[in-house]
Amino acid sequence: MKRAIIAAFAAIIMGSGAYADTIKIGVVGPFSGPFALQGKNFKAGIDAYMAMNGTTIGDDTIEIIYRDLPAADPAQSKALAQELVVKEKVQYLAGFYFTPDAMAVTPILKQANVPLVVMNAATSAIVTKSPLVVRTSFTTWQTSTPIAKVAHDAGVAKVISIVSDYGPGIDAENAFKAGFEKEGGAVIEAIRMPLSTNDFSPIMQRIKDSGAQGVFAFLPSGPTTLGFVKAYNENGLKAVGIKFFAPGDLTQESDLPALGDAALGIQTTFHYAVSHDSPENKAFVEAASKAIGNPAELSFPSVGAFDGMNVIYKMIEATGGEQDAQKAVDAVKGLSWVSPRGPVSIDPESRHITQNIYLREVMKADDGTYYNKEIQTFEKQGDPGLAAIK
Ligand code: PHB
Repeated sequence: MKRAIIAAFAAIIMGSGAYADTIKIGVVGPFSGPFALQGKNFKAGIDAYMAMNGTTIGDDTIEIIYRDLPAADPAQSKALAQELVVKEKVQYLAGFYFTPDAMAVTPILKQANVPLVVMNAATSAIVTKSPLVVRTSFTTWQTSTPIAKVAHDAGVAKVISIVSDYGPGIDAENAFKAGFEKEGGAVIEAIRMPLSTNDFSPIMQRIKDSGAQGVFAFLPSGPTTLGFVKAYNENGLKAVGIKFFAPGDLTQESDLPALGDAALGIQTTFHYAVSHDSPENKAFVEAASKAIGNPAELSFPSVGAFDGMNVIYKMIEATGGEQDAQKAVDAVKGLSWVSPRGPVSIDPESRHITQNIYLREVMKADDGTYYNKEIQTFEKQGDPGLAAIK
């Protein structure tokens, strides 16, 4: 009897939230190595969110635990996630730059009772691997579909497609092809490069030899994209008039200083430009610049992380800090808010983010800096990839 009374009393205290707790969020991303700047952007987005929204929810204190995963390495990703869940007792997993790393974690979510908030990895299928995945970034289907229409409207009929040979690259290739053929265009050759490719000269020769009027390209943002766009210029493709079409991964803002005039005029379609003109983005850029130190290093993973934190904060509020992954995920189905990128919502069926996709062009500002200027909006885009892979 006495024990039952004590247990009931303890339950009341814990259930009432009078019991101050630390809620841990495990964030996995590339914080060292060639893609370290992408991880630094995750952290800048998270820091900006917490600076603007506080580090407590009710009586609970939010703590972020970072784990470094420099490259796409699914086995290591799973090991890090397991360590975060078992040893650190994180209630949420988040981050994940590369698709294979996010995919590797989906099988452990249910048993661990932990939601996964994907802040970057962009292959459509990830959200279908577990009902506990929510994504606040984009998919390459979502970002590569509108550029096909742009290519057609530019008077291009024949395109060669070049992508990295893994999930988001294959999705991008399929998305562009579907969109471009719908417009009456033809993809005359499709090349898939190993993810490790860093000498792009042979590829540039194949593009020249193909007879295509334009090239469509996707590679994961980082040293890879910088190298690819440089090679496009240095091998004279731009000079001979072969037009360049890509999602915005290829002209991320942090690459623009290194590309210089070579990037001028390149048009891409993407969910976020650092230059996006809105009060929400102004506040975000201010906080994220402070967090990252050098504003020229800001890029899109920061906004995926910022919005990912918004989703996790809503999940924590909805569960009163209790660990209930399904309840947490259910609470954000249909959630809508104004992100730094524009209006967004979490599609209740797919748990992927619905958002505007913008056509942007690389321009030079009066102060000599380069930026992506938004010139057209494709409103409220869901993920066309989910229907395509069914
Ligand atoms: C991915 O691996 O899913 C990925 C990485 C970087 C990008 C886009 C997609 O820019």
